[in-house]
Amino acid sequence: MHHFAYRNGILNAEQVPIPQIADAVGTPFYCYSTATLARHYKVFAEALSGLDATICFAVKSNANLAVIRTLVNLGAGCDVVSGGELRLALKAGVDPSKIVFSGVGKTVEELQLAVSTGIGQVNVESEAELEMLSRVATAANTTIRVALRVNPDVDSGGHDKITTGRKEDKFGIEWTLAPQMYRKANKLPGLKATAIAVHIGSQITNLDPFEAAFTRVRDLALMLRNEGMTIDHLDLGGGLGVPYDHASNSPPPLPAAYGEVVRRTVGTLGCKLAFEPGRLIVANAGILVARVVLIKEGTTRRFTVVDAAMNDLVRPAMYGALHEMLPVCEHRDGGDPLPTDVVGPVCETSDRFAQGADLPPLAADDLIAFMTAGAYGASMSSTYNARALVPEVLVDGDKFAVVRRRPSFDEMMALEQLPVWLD
Ligand code: LLP
Repeated sequence: MHHFAYRNGILNAEQVPIPQIADAVGTPFYCYSTATLARHYKVFAEALSGLDATICFAVKSNANLAVIRTLVNLGAGCDVVSGGELRLALKAGVDPSKIVFSGVGKTVEELQLAVSTGIGQVNVESEAELEMLSRVATAANTTIRVALRVNPDVDSGGHDKITTGRKEDKFGIEWTLAPQMYRKANKLPGLKATAIAVHIGSQITNLDPFEAAFTRVRDLALMLRNEGMTIDHLDLGGGLGVPYDHASNSPPPLPAAYGEVVRRTVGTLGCKLAFEPGRLIVANAGILVARVVLIKEGTTRRFTVVDAAMNDLVRPAMYGALHEMLPVCEHRDGGDPLPTDVVGPVCETSDRFAQGADLPPLAADDLIAFMTAGAYGASMSSTYNARALVPEVLVDGDKFAVVRRRPSFDEMMALEQLPVWLD
């Protein structure tokens, strides 16, 4: 459920007509809905009711400061994967104790930042990192809570590029090596290895892999406790999928059903739980709005060329993802849908949002919305083809604000300089 809907034939974000924002900021732009963010946060929190759970929003899915602040105000913590994201989370006002830091390649500097800001937990992904973190924490004369991120060797069944919990994936410590790693962690100074973390992938649309992975986590927790170790925190990652295709007859499971899997598998261990959802919270809360530049008729194809491109929303080019497209003004001429390829202006054939899509006839200057673009949209954008990053707008009821503006060309060039021999 989201708060983008037609009113009098015009697509609105909550109570703000999209064309009004387009006039104010130009196209393309991302538009986020506060009510949708709040709703998704609440639905997920309710699914976990009765459990001692912290929802650590995965900042990588949407790194906009205002979006993070909105979620932090609702009580969220943050899951971060770089020093930059850690700083961003702190800037958004999150309580450092509600930050978990994941990632396979944290540098010494990043670990020092994590230790010095007193974050809640570092999710360690290798023996080498365990030793690095022990050195960093000891040098800072402190102790930090550590979760070993275990790789449970479970295939999440999602897209190959975003599946993380198989043995051959680079993530986590192999499930079978975990006990010896906990024994080692317990001997190293500066570490309190009392947590287990797992994250098996993203856009997961079946609960079975979660059940399998969480069951392995439970078994490991019991095994470690049996050896006399303390395990009092579990971080179960993110990954629950969202419906991209509303016509699909196999929608992803509801958060409530996911909550049941959590209760069933680890609910009786008496652990504090952390979750790292990204997509589930922000995907449906954001859209990318573009304008049709022109229609190009070929002998076999009709191309609708829009002013947004793969650098603004890379998911179609990178994962073959399909984002539902809606004309911002409904039933313009009341014409029948015409199959069209929707493409951007970037010089790559992969700069294509859809092939043979049945869209109502669109003309130059019409606005089009790419739905479910709030997660991994703006946060994965780039300046490829020297295109400026697009503005981001946050709507709340009948108000809207530009929460990231479009940079000027001079701002884009500000970091570049010619060497003396070329000047
Ligand atoms: N925690 C960790 C350690 C992660 O690696 C991720 C996502 C999450 C949490 C959040 O997962 P979510 O709840 O959003 O599924 N760019 C891809 C998705 C990459 C996901 C990377 N890791 C896409 O656009 O589909």
